[in-house]
Amino acid sequence: MNTNKQKVARYLNQLADGLEQSYIGNLNYTLPISKEMQIVLKQVTGQPVKQKTEDQRSEALTNWQQPDSTQFVAKQQEGTQQNKAPEPAQQESKTDSPIILSQQQSCEEIAKDAPNLSTLNVRLRGCMRCPLANERQTIVFGMGNEKADLLFIGEGPGADEDQQGKPFVGKAGKLLTQLIRSIGLARQAIYLGNVVKCRPPGNRDPHIEEIESCIPILKKQIELIQPKLIVTLGNIATKNLIADAPGITKAAGNIYQFNNIPVIPLFHPAFLLRQQSYLEQSWVYMQIIRKHLI
Ligand code: URA
Repeated sequence: MNTNKQKVARYLNQLADGLEQSYIGNLNYTLPISKEMQIVLKQVTGQPVKQKTEDQRSEALTNWQQPDSTQFVAKQQEGTQQNKAPEPAQQESKTDSPIILSQQQSCEEIAKDAPNLSTLNVRLRGCMRCPLANERQTIVFGMGNEKADLLFIGEGPGADEDQQGKPFVGKAGKLLTQLIRSIGLARQAIYLGNVVKCRPPGNRDPHIEEIESCIPILKKQIELIQPKLIVTLGNIATKNLIADAPGITKAAGNIYQFNNIPVIPLFHPAFLLRQQSYLEQSWVYMQIIRKHLI
């Protein structure tokens, strides 16, 4: 076997080790593997690769339970309560409440001199600055290590995130957790954020005015966290951070810059759940990400 193939085989085995703890079954069974990779694996293990059917794979993903992270549960519960929007009736009657007064300032203004993430989070409480506020349950500020080297940025909360007040806790989030673990990192080691902090109704794309209103918060989060590397997930996160980035199919796996911080776009995990054939490619991009962090 030539060295390249050995390298690929070793890499796949490493991935399998990393995934086994959290995935149901091992790599050979769980991931869709290209014909070329199947040949390599067969050479290495001496066994034909057994693959799961699409149905079995999505069942494994659906049934997979994210381990409880008590460190963040308490913090986030607190955040969930804080983030609840005030009742509309309350807003009308209490025109002098600090929440209402702060609504007169844009996100850019409240973010400008925020000294840390907690202050920024508090300043965003009860935000009514864009139409997304009307239908959201919770503001999903972001979560993770405030000094993380690696920052993942999604588009905006989905239904599960809106309920729980935490980013990436639904099916797509579980897949993202797998990708993060595949490079030996725990969710707690990184920071997860979104372009908009409130769920667009029916999971539609956020509108331009919603993004423009909210994105100063994300930019301030980046400034405060100062990550070594940013990973944008999908088109919306990528294009709103890197103005001249091509579509995600071209941009994925390449390296761009945002304020002198390298940015690597990746396929959005929700897209990967629908198009599992892009998974293998995404695992390769995760290796590029890992190398950047060393
Ligand atoms: N999709 C996103 O873009 N962000 C989340 O937090 C969850 C799903």
